[in-house]
Amino acid sequence: MKGLLIRNGFSLDAKPQPHLYLSLYDAFKRAILNRFLEPDSKLPPSRVLANDLGISRSTVLKAFDLLLVERYITAVKGSGYYVLCPKNKKLRLKIPSVAAKGNYPSLSNRGKAFSENAHWPGEDSNKGVAFRPGLPPLDIFPVQLWKKLIDDYWRCITPSELSYSNTIGLQCLRNNLANYLRIYRDIQCDPEQIIVTTGSLHSLYLVSNILLETHDEVVVENPTYPMAHGLFKSLGAQICAGQVDEQGLNLNGIPCKNPKFVYTTPSCQYPTGIKMSMTRRKELLKWASEKETFIIEDDYNHEFSNWEKPLGSLFGMDQQERTIYLGTFNKLIHPSMRLGYMIVPYYLLDAVTALYRQSSRFVSRENQKAMSLFIERDYLNKHLRNVMEVSLERKEIFAEHFNKGLGDYFHLDTSNPGLHVIAHIRGPISDVALEKELLDHNILAHALSKYYVQPTNENGLVMGFCSVNPKQIKDTLGKMEKVVSRVIPIDPKQQENWNIIL
Ligand SMILES: Cc1ncc(COP(=O)(O)O)c(C=O)c1O
Repeated sequence: MKGLLIRNGFSLDAKPQPHLYLSLYDAFKRAILNRFLEPDSKLPPSRVLANDLGISRSTVLKAFDLLLVERYITAVKGSGYYVLCPKNKKLRLKIPSVAAKGNYPSLSNRGKAFSENAHWPGEDSNKGVAFRPGLPPLDIFPVQLWKKLIDDYWRCITPSELSYSNTIGLQCLRNNLANYLRIYRDIQCDPEQIIVTTGSLHSLYLVSNILLETHDEVVVENPTYPMAHGLFKSLGAQICAGQVDEQGLNLNGIPCKNPKFVYTTPSCQYPTGIKMSMTRRKELLKWASEKETFIIEDDYNHEFSNWEKPLGSLFGMDQQERTIYLGTFNKLIHPSMRLGYMIVPYYLLDAVTALYRQSSRFVSRENQKAMSLFIERDYLNKHLRNVMEVSLERKEIFAEHFNKGLGDYFHLDTSNPGLHVIAHIRGPISDVALEKELLDHNILAHALSKYYVQPTNENGLVMGFCSVNPKQIKDTLGKMEKVVSRVIPIDPKQQENWNIIL
């Protein structure tokens, strides 16, 4: 605060000295008008401020009195002084304008590519959560239990634990993850191969960066996870689309010679939900071996997709250390957790760790420790059961109410074992237009066509169904019905003709 006041004109040399309080008052006033002190921010206690500035407390209180009279600040009993938004006083915002003019160095080609490929709707969190795809039931996360684990961590903290931490993650978490993966995924791996990250996308970023040169070929499923597709394009990769059929990724006819890796979601193809058949898995491993390429297995959803019919991972089947396995807790628990992991072949371990160390260092130790205990004490298993039960219940409620109110406009496909369903549009409107229309009404649903890496006739909405409680599901579907019936103003009886219009 001392520096801020001096920058705004406060001087201990104010003459005569009895006018020191005016210098302080002026400095505060200037700081408030120039928005260096934001409305509602708390001022330091008068005693502390007097001490910092080396002046008497009565001088500070005199300055505060003037500011109070002129309504620049207010006093809250028992709490302190707060900045007011001064009425009738013109605030001068000193923040440089967004369109600042000047000659700056140009962006790198990579920087430009990242900007160009960031068109996926992601930053729409101010629009609520219904029906954003991929969210678990957020309202059943055991907040108190998690808080207790965090409290335990801080109760036992030692000063050295506040220092820099191991980049690849806490040993206890990696040990617990190795156990968890052995039991739940039939994966045998050395904890030393596990790298804790902030999630699957972070893992993918690290791996792609150490592997890809510009123009390298990358095979992706069509459709695929758009953020992954965007990342590969930003890194200059040439995208080779592999079509998806009822057995998962079909390797026939993929236009590539020498791919660096295949990015695949075999447990639960994203976004179709198709589970890759055993035949295809074997074919893929054989193909990868012949092409001498890597496989990136994004197992973002295995807890859901393997609930009823467990099928192992590609990583577990791979005898050649070609598979890089990505796992995440952000989908099962909640995305703001930012905790995931990858299992990396030894060959890549050092390079991935080096890039990680030179960029984001490591994941918050507090979260890692809490998650380690969450797994060790079997809370994860219990939470998984709750999540499964609640999401299945909500899927039924969603489908019932969706079909009742919106069934004329959509064909709802609920076959995906994960956290979203696909509503194929029957009316004459594009999914992109409908996505925007719904977003304007704070309803989130992603256009299916955006998941495709080649032009497509697919026209639908990918919708998460379980992040909110049943009442909110029904209310939001009611709102959606109003929007849809307005933007698709066609008598539902004419729906046979709609395909023609499309
Ligand atoms: C297929 C797929 N992979 C990975 C992720 C990213 O997960 P994370 O939040 O752990 O980065 C998502 C998120 O929606 C996803 O759908």
